[in-house]
Amino acid sequence: MVRLLLTGADGQLGWEVARRAAPAGIACRSTGRATLDITDRDAVRRLVREAAPSVVVNAAAYTAVDKAEADADAAYAVNRDGPAHLAEACADAGVPLIHVSTDYVFDGSKPTPYREDDPVAPLGVYGASKLAGEEAVRRLCPRHVILRTAWVYGVHGHNFVKTMLRLGRERDRLRVVDDQRGCPTFAGDLADTLLALAERLDVTAGAMPAEGFGTFHATGQGATSWCGFARRIFELAAPHLAKVPHVEAITTADFPTPARRPANSVLDCGRLARVHGLTLRPWEMALPGMLDSVLSSS
Ligand SMILES: NC(=O)c1ccc[n+]([C@@H]2O[C@H](COP(=O)([O-])OP(=O)(O)OC[C@H]3O[C@@H](n4cnc5c(N)ncnc54)[C@H](OP(=O)(O)O)[C@@H]3O)[C@@H](O)[C@H]2O)c1
Repeated sequence: MVRLLLTGADGQLGWEVARRAAPAGIACRSTGRATLDITDRDAVRRLVREAAPSVVVNAAAYTAVDKAEADADAAYAVNRDGPAHLAEACADAGVPLIHVSTDYVFDGSKPTPYREDDPVAPLGVYGASKLAGEEAVRRLCPRHVILRTAWVYGVHGHNFVKTMLRLGRERDRLRVVDDQRGCPTFAGDLADTLLALAERLDVTAGAMPAEGFGTFHATGQGATSWCGFARRIFELAAPHLAKVPHVEAITTADFPTPARRPANSVLDCGRLARVHGLTLRPWEMALPGMLDSVLSSS
């Protein structure tokens, strides 16, 4: 049986991994920031030794993209140093590490979907700190999978979908950026993919060929803009809402933010499908179920 050690279990993605592990037949030791602060090198080493996992999944991260611009030390501590500590501990213990990264390692200038080996050039501190985390994992733990994802939304935690629903209750009109494109990714679907990968990489499951390790892209299928995403959210949620706001398309220039974001961060997920046989559902198929869960509990 896979013995998974999970970090970041209180986040959107970690929460889904934790609750889906047992039904998938995986024994999961879940840690949140309070039980394992990944910036604490000694604590990381101690826990990896004590838990004796057969695979480690790092879902912990500093994810406040705008706040990171003025808080670089904290972002780098969590997004670069934390993964470095985990990678070191995993390498010493002979355990594979699955580390989650981001589409924001790219600058968005490519007109077509990004592949794993496309040049990276983050536009802000968050992306740069996540890239530094990827580099640390590659350097320190040969048996790693870096899974880059994008535009994550889940039932638990903060995300764009919940923000839109809240603003839609407060306002008649929402202005949403229409010139940034990406792939909305349901945290539950990504969690299932992580668990399937954990099964495949498990040290007790036999040797994984070298091509099974390395960097992979994993997002919901299909792409849209933030504005397209918002409009679809309100179309689907309309029957449950007292009123539906008008969603007006604006440009990035109309909505300045502390951090710059890539205009195109659509990821090509072909390698994950070819090598591991894993694909996520189209984002438009995953969204209704997430909305049902959120709207029925609000
Ligand atoms: N959200 C997105 O749209 C998105 C897009 C692309 C990639 N990703 C990547 O996907 C992964 C999961 O993201 P998510 O959306 O689940 O993020 P999230 O909801 O912000 O969860 C991250 C979790 O990590 C925890 N954490 C922060 N610092 C920590 C530390 N020092 N030690 C242990 N835990 C710590 C956070 O705790 P606190 O809440 O207490 O800080 C939070 O529970 C991350 O690697 C992220 O970079 C996310």
